[in-house]
Amino acid sequence: MRRKPGPSTIAVHGQPVRRPDWTPVVAPVFQSSTFTNPVGSDETVMYTRYGNNPNQVSLAAKYALLEGTEAALFVSSGMGATALAHLAVLRPGDHLLASSWIYGGTRRLFDEEFGRLGIEVTYVDPDQPRQWRRSVRKSTRAVFVETPTNPLMRVVDLTPMAQIARDSGVALLVDATFASPINFRAVEHGADIVISSATKYLNGHSDIIAGAVAASKPIIEETTRLMQLWGQALDPHTAWLIDRGMRTLAIRMERHNATGMAVAQWAEGRAPITRVYYPGLESHPDHAHAREVLGGFGGMVGLELKGGARAAERFLKRLKLVTHAPSLAGVESLISEPRLTSHSRLTEEERSRLGIPDGFVRLSCGIEDAEDIIADLEQALG
Ligand SMILES: Cc1ncc(COP(=O)(O)O)c(C=O)c1O
Repeated sequence: MRRKPGPSTIAVHGQPVRRPDWTPVVAPVFQSSTFTNPVGSDETVMYTRYGNNPNQVSLAAKYALLEGTEAALFVSSGMGATALAHLAVLRPGDHLLASSWIYGGTRRLFDEEFGRLGIEVTYVDPDQPRQWRRSVRKSTRAVFVETPTNPLMRVVDLTPMAQIARDSGVALLVDATFASPINFRAVEHGADIVISSATKYLNGHSDIIAGAVAASKPIIEETTRLMQLWGQALDPHTAWLIDRGMRTLAIRMERHNATGMAVAQWAEGRAPITRVYYPGLESHPDHAHAREVLGGFGGMVGLELKGGARAAERFLKRLKLVTHAPSLAGVESLISEPRLTSHSRLTEEERSRLGIPDGFVRLSCGIEDAEDIIADLEQALG
């Protein structure tokens, strides 16, 4: 193909190539831990823990094309991807400058494990650009940002962080799980390493756990080396399922974007809902920036219910179509309360300071008919 393929084409095919006659249109699952190798050869052997199983390799190549990076690697969870990507660029004695608006699991990894490894972490609010520069140390070796954020859908302007990373010659790591490469490609905004929980939009069917890292070849080589030693290789069948899920990524995102917007607009007019958090709405603090950098606003909507935790519980118990479960970004609509899931380790006051009051619910709009999702939410409001 002469023309550079678009994201929908890449999501289906990876780099399109003419297939030889009599080859399967869909690649088989290479459900094999090991592969034959030539006698006497000192070439690297093929072994699924090494990440060179054909299912793992073709999936990673497709994802790298979508993110616009030289290379990529899939591992067995989003947390695995976050951990290995950071360990690929940080050593004992190094300092990590991190956004304070991050997924609770990531925060725990930094707080409970990185200190033990001799890596110090400083947290800065993304809306304090001067504080970022002030927090840089001689030992700073990496900067980490999540965007859009969980659960307030803040869309962070990466410009100051990218500038700091460039000036200091360190890596900018961005967890862009909530956008997917269809809505946002972080490398176009200065990221060196993109992290994604493939459990979410990339796979999109709530049936696997996986993570992905996209970056330059040397960084992916180092991440792969760590994966081989720490052992988070992706199972071939899971790789095959993600590959299948990714074939519909672009079209799913189109629907998530449209339904997210429809639900957010509906919610804004409802009296029992005191606030709606959706970057596609003018009322969202990052709306102007989101319009500039996002290809779509996604399917994640935050709703603050009048009446706090009890009102939220009443509402959740009445839902029929929208399922009460953690996680997000699948074809089915899911809803959860961050106070009991991702942010359960914080006190009510800490959550309130972060802008997550009790009565806040996080809705992941699936690809059902928007009218059905809205009708379910409407009846549950009572
Ligand atoms: C933004 C973000 N990053 C990373 C993760 C971790 O992903 P996983 O559950 O696949 O390990 C999550 C999980 O919810 C997430 O929301």
